[in-house]
Amino acid sequence: MNKTEPDLSFWAHWMHRALQLAYLADGSTSPNPLVGAVALDVAGKLVGEGFHARAGFPHAEVEALDQAGVKAKGGTLVVTLEPCCHQGRTAPCTEKILRSGVSRVVVAMQDPDPRVSGLGISRLREAGVEVLTGLLEKEAAFQNRAYIFRVRTGRPWGILKWAMSLDGRTGLPSGESKWISGSRARSWVHKLRATCDAVIVGSGTIRADNPLLTSRGISEPEPLRVALTRSLNLPFDAQLWDVKVAKTLIAYGPDALKDLLAKFPPGPEHLALDSTDPLELLNALAKKNCNRVLWECGPALAASAIEMGCVQELAIFMAPKLLGGVPAMTPLANLGYTAMNQVLFVSDCSVKTIGQDWLFKMLLPQLEV
Ligand SMILES: NC(=O)c1ccc[n+]([C@@H]2O[C@H](COP(=O)([O-])OP(=O)(O)OC[C@H]3O[C@@H](n4cnc5c(N)ncnc54)[C@H](OP(=O)(O)O)[C@@H]3O)[C@@H](O)[C@H]2O)c1
Ligand SMILES: [Zn+2]
Repeated sequence: MNKTEPDLSFWAHWMHRALQLAYLADGSTSPNPLVGAVALDVAGKLVGEGFHARAGFPHAEVEALDQAGVKAKGGTLVVTLEPCCHQGRTAPCTEKILRSGVSRVVVAMQDPDPRVSGLGISRLREAGVEVLTGLLEKEAAFQNRAYIFRVRTGRPWGILKWAMSLDGRTGLPSGESKWISGSRARSWVHKLRATCDAVIVGSGTIRADNPLLTSRGISEPEPLRVALTRSLNLPFDAQLWDVKVAKTLIAYGPDALKDLLAKFPPGPEHLALDSTDPLELLNALAKKNCNRVLWECGPALAASAIEMGCVQELAIFMAPKLLGGVPAMTPLANLGYTAMNQVLFVSDCSVKTIGQDWLFKMLLPQLEV
């Protein structure tokens, strides 16, 4: 292989593998990024693979290089994110790479963390290692969109999910809403929860549906369940207060009737907020190491979260059903638009069939808040 003119399709093949490896820990690494790595020997043969499993565990580069051992010498390390060069909970990967004797590192993207951001790549280059950057950068950035967003903005990436009928209803005029989507769609939601650090609902959803909000054991630990309330007017026997299966946080605003707190069963954590502005909750969740949160609330809180720029992605199930009814519930309360040129345009829309339903996934424009 020619060192100065690498075959990009060869590296791309291995970068795809590294991205696949990184995905194995989707939802488990927060506040850290997803990272995958493969080590190739001097002849380009696979000699090691690794991924970052969770914060405090070895980084992907270390896993791959440990597996490769002396076979890494003179070879190439392909990694989805710039290797770290600072002492965190684990030692800097750049020094491990230098000790391994690899002569080339192929990196998909720079780490936005200011403690690394370009410094890892310079450290390797200064020590004489050839570094190729930007290979499958778009794919790598998409994979780590939650981490990148949290590092840049200080708050977690938000996904808003709802299920509706073909005529855009989320419930009957009577309020009945179980179930709009089918069992396959609901299992998909359990998997989605497993990739999130927290699942947020408003009191309206707790009062109406008494949800459990777990991944049904897919992720261990389960994501943090968050109840956001202005009033603390909540049922005292809700499933969410039983923290044997998953932790729960009750986040309440300044207008809440705080005397009610004593009536809840012990277990959930209580968090007093200065306001129930969704942004304030997200700032608090970022401090709890959340990279990605799932909004599973009703129309009132969903609209408020969108207005405050707290939703970056939508996951919408549409069921092949007609519910009808002018007063029936719709996914979003008023967003306050008065002209069509003000409304939100989504992008990157994809659709697939899950059981009897369609799943639409898309991104929302980044609102300035
Ligand atoms: N089809 C679906 O996918 C789906 C998903 C979820 C829910 N739902 C349905 O939605 C209905 C409930 O609707 P909802 O709108 O009342 O539920 P919600 O949005 O989950 O809860 C609204 C409540 O959240 C609290 N809240 C705290 N901060 C807020 C803020 N910044 N903005 C707005 N609200 C805030 C308020 O509670 P306080 O009362 O404490 O002031 C408010 O009354 C239920 O019938 C449920 O079945 C459907
Ligand atoms: Zn590292």
